[in-house]
Amino acid sequence: MLEKLTQHPQDKILMLMGMYAADPRADKVDLGVGVYRNAEGVTPVMRAIKAAEHRLWQEQTTKAYTGLAGDPAYGDAMRGLVLGDAVDAARVAAAATPGGTGAVRQAFEMIRMENPDATVWVSDPTWPNHISILNHLGMTMRQYRYFDDETRAVDFPAMMADLADVKSGDVVLLHGCCHNPTGANLNLTEWQAVADHLNAAGATPMIDIAYQGFGDGVEQDAAGTRLIASQCPETLIAASCSKNFGIYRERTGLLMGVAPSADLRASVQGTFNHLNRQNYSFPPDHGARLVTMILTDDALRADWQAELEEMRLGMLQLRQDLAAELQRLTGSDRFGFVAQHRGMFSRLGANPDQVQAMREKHGIYMVGDSRLNIAGLNAQTVPILARAIADAGV
Ligand code: LMR
Repeated sequence: MLEKLTQHPQDKILMLMGMYAADPRADKVDLGVGVYRNAEGVTPVMRAIKAAEHRLWQEQTTKAYTGLAGDPAYGDAMRGLVLGDAVDAARVAAAATPGGTGAVRQAFEMIRMENPDATVWVSDPTWPNHISILNHLGMTMRQYRYFDDETRAVDFPAMMADLADVKSGDVVLLHGCCHNPTGANLNLTEWQAVADHLNAAGATPMIDIAYQGFGDGVEQDAAGTRLIASQCPETLIAASCSKNFGIYRERTGLLMGVAPSADLRASVQGTFNHLNRQNYSFPPDHGARLVTMILTDDALRADWQAELEEMRLGMLQLRQDLAAELQRLTGSDRFGFVAQHRGMFSRLGANPDQVQAMREKHGIYMVGDSRLNIAGLNAQTVPILARAIADAGV
């Protein structure tokens, strides 16, 4: 059997990580994988995480299993972070998962199990792994237009025109904030129009929120998710703590299902527990426990939020600096979108040849679709990138 295995296409983001690591140039610039880095190029362990780890080491007396959905306190704390008081807590089922990807995978599996005829709609473009997992599960997928290549903003009329084909029972996947890979996001009027449309069509919204706190702020970034959850009868939500708590390798995510009523919550919870048991049994606990400690302790929470805010404002500053430098070099304000986008990513709009030229001539690594990780920049590399973009004729 093993000699007959076929090779699977490599994920383009992970492939780029390998290419970057193999490049011997000292002045190479990594704008690939979505990992936050500070001005020194370091992905720090956040202060509140360190403090919580220290406390956990002192206080934890057992590592026996928690529950199949993880510690309910984690689900409660994360529900508060993502949903605030937008929905009655009694309607919300929650399960800890290995990272946000684990939550996405479990949600897709649940959709396939409950409604094998459902089409899952994803934005064009979306995080490539959404499509990869849907294909892996043999699910029907369609893409809706999302990004205007000219303006580099959301093409909302095109998005709604495509979503006109959504059928009852379909699932529409939306990015809660900080759209990956484009950086272009819906405003609240547009979120409202999407909610109205999905309700009229009888479709279920699914929200992937992996960058809460990286865009306009912790509360503001959850506004679209809260609007949908409060207005649609049911909503699936995949949340990640990788980025906003900086605990990437701890694999800390949460799947939430907002049920149509409190009575129906138990069956959603039962399905989540069942899926966890089938796929990996008990979910990882370490990261989830740290997050719970931080969110339920006023001092730790305040420090976490202050550091997250510093990270967010740093990325915003880099966006403004890059847009200003590009304006200076090209004499045009066509790169103003860089300052308008939010989150870690911007899609630059360079073609594959230009992306390759920037990599080969300048050692700048961005994903082939010209997604760049703003957090990979610093004051020294902003002018280098701007020069490379201008040189490549983007
Ligand atoms: C990204 O989009 O770069 C991140 O979400 C990391 C990943 O797993 O792809």
